[in-house]
Amino acid sequence: MPTSDVIVIGGGVIGLAIARALARDGLRVVVFERNARPGGEASWAAAGMLAPQSEADAPGPLFDLCLQSRALYPNFVAALWEETRIDAELCPAGTMVLAEEEHEVAALQAKLVWQTAAGCHAEWLSPDDVQALEPLLTGVGALYLPDDWQVENRRLTQALIAAATASQVQIVCHCEAVTLLVEHGRVTGVDVREERWSAPIVVNAAGSWATQMSPALLRLPARVVRPIRGQMLALQMPLPTKLRHVVRTSRVYLVPRRDGRLIVGATVEDVGYEKQVTAGGVSALLSGATTVVPALAQAALLETWAGLRPLATDDLPLIGETDIEGLFCATGHYRNGILLTPITAEIMRCLVRGVPPPCDIRAFSPRRFRVSAGKMAP
Ligand code: FAD
Ligand code: GLY
Repeated sequence: MPTSDVIVIGGGVIGLAIARALARDGLRVVVFERNARPGGEASWAAAGMLAPQSEADAPGPLFDLCLQSRALYPNFVAALWEETRIDAELCPAGTMVLAEEEHEVAALQAKLVWQTAAGCHAEWLSPDDVQALEPLLTGVGALYLPDDWQVENRRLTQALIAAATASQVQIVCHCEAVTLLVEHGRVTGVDVREERWSAPIVVNAAGSWATQMSPALLRLPARVVRPIRGQMLALQMPLPTKLRHVVRTSRVYLVPRRDGRLIVGATVEDVGYEKQVTAGGVSALLSGATTVVPALAQAALLETWAGLRPLATDDLPLIGETDIEGLFCATGHYRNGILLTPITAEIMRCLVRGVPPPCDIRAFSPRRFRVSAGKMAP
């Protein structure tokens, strides 16, 4: 039976970053990826916003985790550049959350108040300030979040694949983990259809599919993590009408890339494992985008796509050891998985080495969903 120190199930950004971190600590790591190539699911579909502040509605453990991960990003991207010469295009231009109408102002100003109290940088922009920063935009005001940045998530994924490979991680594609092997309450390996692999540590980083594997062995209910579809599209920004900041409205977000593409996102749809792009989805995104920047009606439509965000039933990620010794989960990152990649890898690195993680992870324990073995459906 082939043997490894660690098996990672799932080759998205989360699995790849964990594999890279553990391999750099000297462990032999294998990543099983079901698809023909790693990084082709949510990690590829995302917008790459590093947006703890614009995504959050209230303070709490997830907000704190997101802030910590954002703080790791400059060094994370720099280290990946050193290891691979792939630039993940970290862009520190900041985010403007636009109030298109007067009734949107109060909620944004309330957010400004609690986030400022939490020690974050946030400013209110008047309509003139908005125009001065982004001449294409009109609105009744905006919340300016200078520390909510963006990264090119497809390049980040390429960098993680290259960095993991350079650290001797074995990435095995076309390889679906079907069943976990468990003996006397501890994980011993994974069954991957054609063969069995043995390892004392298994990390379940299978994104939206994480609780579909042998639920009786996971001791987690099968739908604890479910997919939430996001449809997206890319426009070619007409020159010279470029945006510089990430712009969010109540209907869409606009993410300007270095190469002139403008990413427009995203729908939020609870439709199961269906990755279809729909006429209604694209129409809603185009309507939202052209309302905020009418000149975009002239932009070329370059690409449409959809991806599945992994969402846990209580909206928090699952990061940590399960009731099965040696079996860890790193999933359920929902709308913030790109942002949470560095901190998740660092937490997992500490847990595997048996040292305290860099932050309080109790709220994210997979054990909060534990189901006793006797109560599982066969
Ligand atoms: P995935 O990237 O989905 O990877 C999981 C991998 O596991 C897949 O490659 C899959 O094939 C593999 N797999 C599944 N089951 C098995 C199995 N049994 N055996 C082997 N392999 C298996 N986050 C942000 O931070 N900022 C954003 O701006 C942002 N925008 C988003 C926009 C959209 C439209 C979407 C869909 C997501 C967005 N996200 C964003 C969220 C982010 O993309 C996800 O949270 C993150 O990519 C999750 O990473 P992952 O590695 O857990 O999952
Ligand atoms: N974080 C952006 C999205 O999930 O659409």
